[in-house]
Amino acid sequence: MKPVQIGVLGLGTVGGGTVNVLKRNAQEIARRAGREIEVTHAAARDLNKKRICDTDGIQITVDPFDIVSNPYVDIIVELIGGDTLALELVMQAIENGKHVVTANKALIAKHGNEIFAAAQAKGVVVAFEAAVAGGIPIIKAIREGLAGNQIQWLAGIINGTGNFILTEMRDKGRDFDDVLKEAQQLGYAESDPTFDVEGIDAAHKLTILASIAFGIPLQFESAYTEGITNITQEDVLFAEELGYRIKHLGVSRKTDKGIELRVHPTLIPEKRLLANVDGVMNAVLVQGDAVGPTLYYGAGAGAEPTASAVVADLVDVVRALTSDPENRVPHLAFQAGTLSDTPILSIDDVHTAYYLRMMASDKPGVLAEVTKILGEHDISIEAIIQKEPANEQNDACVIMLTHRVLEKNMNAAIKSIEALDSIHDRVTRIRMEMLNAN
Ligand code: NDP
Ligand code: HSE
Repeated sequence: MKPVQIGVLGLGTVGGGTVNVLKRNAQEIARRAGREIEVTHAAARDLNKKRICDTDGIQITVDPFDIVSNPYVDIIVELIGGDTLALELVMQAIENGKHVVTANKALIAKHGNEIFAAAQAKGVVVAFEAAVAGGIPIIKAIREGLAGNQIQWLAGIINGTGNFILTEMRDKGRDFDDVLKEAQQLGYAESDPTFDVEGIDAAHKLTILASIAFGIPLQFESAYTEGITNITQEDVLFAEELGYRIKHLGVSRKTDKGIELRVHPTLIPEKRLLANVDGVMNAVLVQGDAVGPTLYYGAGAGAEPTASAVVADLVDVVRALTSDPENRVPHLAFQAGTLSDTPILSIDDVHTAYYLRMMASDKPGVLAEVTKILGEHDISIEAIIQKEPANEQNDACVIMLTHRVLEKNMNAAIKSIEALDSIHDRVTRIRMEMLNAN
């Protein structure tokens, strides 16, 4: 049988890795897919740039639309990134009846509903395993492996760059900007790295995970997003002293009132496996009603780990070429037309525990004032530690861990605490999750 012809749009980190894996493992891949898979066309901006892959036998153009409309190209692999040009290219590819594989989480999180509807109408597949957690087959695991479960919640470290920065800061005391530069050199970071450090990339990925876990449309605009730029060395150290690690987590939970969809720094008990996921590694913990907790771990970014997911999608698409469109795995796990309208909860309506740190005058009665305010807002304290006077004003640094509370109540309590004369500066708050089965 004639090889399946692939057009790769973008020959950077992931595009280059994909070409390398397809060439190196060509025989094994053909045995799995049932046909040879050959990259015949590729697009890039700079035809003279040195590539990480061997481009022999590949026709390279600066115009990706040439490839999308080339009748000899069977499958388009979109690895340019962003959600403007990429959206046009993917929609055009679908319109031309081509299957698409993409690693582009921004594109799927923001425009997936429209893309999947167009793909469904044309009977083509848009596959996006590489869009979440790099090389970890988490989309396949949730969409197919856990199809018998009601998913209750999921929580994951889903940005490799952010986890790499936090790990290097904690283990080696390195400077934030210096580690970010290294992540960029290693090809982990997004072309705009604020997407990584401000949590936007993780929110894109969490939006996708929540959609396939709970059978809801993609709703990126409703995700609560907080990055890692405000985490300080002292919070990292205090958290460790209390038996916790600070990780940047995406959390989505189905509650009676709606679905939580939130990305923020989180204290988690150090004994949890997730607390020990370091460097560029990602991990996603998924709780299903039948299976219980399941954990998926692997490289979250980088050329070949991401290529591993892109190529797995290509193999799936090649296998699907001969299948009837009605009998394929649905894009968002649930059959189109059966997605639910369960609302996404505002962050104000989320229940979680908290780590609080505040600078307080070191004199009698101050702690009593703070605990009184917490009590008035229904917030119960799990632990308190006080550090020696920590600044020139002889302030003490007070750290508290609370039990679970409604975020709205915590906001009100923090506002009252910050208004006390005896409390100086803002109160630092970091959410805390136990990640136990319930
Ligand atoms: P890169 O910046 O390394 O590569 C982008 C590629 O697109 C480059 O080859 C660039 O060409 C090409 N390109 C950009 N604009 C155009 C254009 N107008 N016409 C033709 N080609 C163009 O990005 P990555 O490989 O890192 O990321 C690609 C996608 O994969 C993104 O959506 C990203 O979010 C996603 N992703 C990345 C991961 C990673 O670890 N890096 C992991 C998982 C997903 P040129 O080289 O000539 O500049
Ligand atoms: N910039 C992303 C990260 C790439 O660091 O996780 C993988 O999606």
